[in-house]
Amino acid sequence: TASAAQTVLAHTTDVADFPKPGIQFKDLSPLYADHEAFRAVIADVVQRRRGSVDLVCGIEARGFVVGAPVALGLDAGFVPVRKAGKLPGPTLAETYELEYGTATIEVHPEPFTDGPRVLLIDDVLATGGTARAAAALLRRAGAQVVGFEALLELTALDGRARLDGLPTHAVAGV
Ligand code: PRP
Ligand code: MG
Repeated sequence: TASAAQTVLAHTTDVADFPKPGIQFKDLSPLYADHEAFRAVIADVVQRRRGSVDLVCGIEARGFVVGAPVALGLDAGFVPVRKAGKLPGPTLAETYELEYGTATIEVHPEPFTDGPRVLLIDDVLATGGTARAAAALLRRAGAQVVGFEALLELTALDGRARLDGLPTHAVAGV
């Protein structure tokens, strides 16, 4: 909703040249620190996806902050998509290009073998590389990835064009 978008924008701080020169970092920490604002934004995501999700996946690290409360709001379980080397036991892995550098993400495949409807969550949609890789990883594990939700989209980067038609929504865009 418009007010959820305003809430995200009003609680986002721009940090120049972080983590590298030329990158403008969007810090959503002020949103999470304000319990009313945080609750309202999570509720906005939950009402949009209610009834259509079996599992929520959040992408390490900032996607965990958003994904876990969305999962509880949807009466769905939560499965973490983690950076390489953090999960014990057998995992599936996917390597991708980031706005700054490359990264590998991993997941435990077991929760997805029966084809659950999975909502993918992250804080920011920038180039779309992270969400694209996570969606591909979850599909390889057997998931039916039904959508991607971010709190903030950097629209000039057109990340959603890289998501191959995955139903994508960002609460706010800049
Ligand atoms: C940031 C952000 C998203 C991703 C968006 O994560 O939290 O996950 O980049 O960029 P993209 O759309 O260009 O892929 P980052 O990899 O910096 O790690 P963090 O969440 O662990 O801080
Ligand atoms: Mg991240």
